[in-house]
Amino acid sequence: MRSSAVLASGLLASTVSAAFDAASSKNVAVYWGQGAYQIPLTTLCEDESVDIVNLAFVNSFPTEIGFLPASNFANACADEYFTYPNGTKSGLLSNCPGIGPGIKKCQDNGKKVMLSVGGGWPTNYYLPSEPVAKYFAEFLWGAFGPQTDKWVADKKPRPFGDAAVDGFDLDLEAYMEPAPMDGYLYKHYDIFVNHLKSLGNVLISGAPQCVLPDARLAHAISASSFDFVFLQFYNTPQCSSRAGYNGLANLATSTFTFDAWVDWLKANSANKGVKMYLGLPAGPAGAPWDAPSYLTPTEANKLVSHYSAQHPDIFGGVMLWEATVSANNKICDKPYVSWIKSILDGKFTDEVCPSTTSSVVSSTVSASSTSSSVFATPTATSPNGLCGPDTGYTCKGYHYGKFPDIYFAQVITMANNRPRDRVILQSIRHWHLSSIFLNFGTC
Ligand SMILES: *[C@@H]1O[C@H](CO)[C@@H](O)[C@H](O)[C@H]1NC(C)=O
Repeated sequence: MRSSAVLASGLLASTVSAAFDAASSKNVAVYWGQGAYQIPLTTLCEDESVDIVNLAFVNSFPTEIGFLPASNFANACADEYFTYPNGTKSGLLSNCPGIGPGIKKCQDNGKKVMLSVGGGWPTNYYLPSEPVAKYFAEFLWGAFGPQTDKWVADKKPRPFGDAAVDGFDLDLEAYMEPAPMDGYLYKHYDIFVNHLKSLGNVLISGAPQCVLPDARLAHAISASSFDFVFLQFYNTPQCSSRAGYNGLANLATSTFTFDAWVDWLKANSANKGVKMYLGLPAGPAGAPWDAPSYLTPTEANKLVSHYSAQHPDIFGGVMLWEATVSANNKICDKPYVSWIKSILDGKFTDEVCPSTTSSVVSSTVSASSTSSSVFATPTATSPNGLCGPDTGYTCKGYHYGKFPDIYFAQVITMANNRPRDRVILQSIRHWHLSSIFLNFGTC
């Protein structure tokens, strides 16, 4: 139908995107697609500081061949969904007019665009079998990879039109009780990745937690080829970027896991050329459950400089969660991501604008005080606006507004069940912030 135009734009994009260098240790990867009032994808794609964009998320997976996955891009895509031939509505967004042009703009500007599967909510996704894993891979490549005449003729979904992503990111954070099957956390993702890799020139990344080995991704990273691993050094305070920064003063006692992850990847990664990225929140609002993991540019410079110099062979750059948090976290009028890029480029000089100290430091103290664009003015009553098992404060009286009751009930159940608090904190950090207004409770 429109194959020649599609082919031409595909070729153009891949020619220009030669600017991207997977072997570089100065890349910046940024998630985009969650949260309220997001900056447009096209705006992010004009930002010279960005090399990889992770669109988040395909947040539910098919459990049978023929089923559609679900997607969510918060306020960046309206509520229109594909319907099955029998008339049942799926959870797969059908009309995301801003995203296709954004992908093309990114690629024209030499960036890679990944589509991230998984995420922190809901957490009930898994791949039940090898055939479903392969079907899911084929579906994703057909729906989001290079558009083919056959796919269009078969009237199969193309949520982003004729724009094609460069690959897929696995941000696996599933948690189900009861478990739907043994090993549901990790099984068949290696099959999924291997199959994707067999379908075309597909980049694969994964975003493990900083605790290692990662229960969900260790198997896949060991048994299939990942190009990039974006370590989430936030939301798990004992190995977060704050622990990393504090640990610089005494490396022997540091609980930061960057070195351990390097060792683990070197020993276990199926791709011996895998690149590891240091994942950071792009502002306190990027990790409201672990706001101390946010590092000021000066702090980030010390951490990044140390670990990139330690591991030049495997260090790929920095990952940020996420784009709008960065855009809202301006320091001396520059978004956080541009500070990170200058750190990686070796061009960082300490922030010199007079207001820096107050704006940055105060924002690290309380996630709630600076996150008004994401959360409706929460009332923080704990000493530092944080509560939960990692802070040592008991949380009472959570108030969630504009938040579906079913989630509310689960959160309360889980929050009342102390041993599972960690699971909640782990699993909700990539919540769709557009749909919750959060007040930290009485702590
Ligand atoms: C319609 O088809 C979908 C996909 O096969 C299935 O999940 C759903 O249950 C069906 N709905 C009805 C009402 O049969």
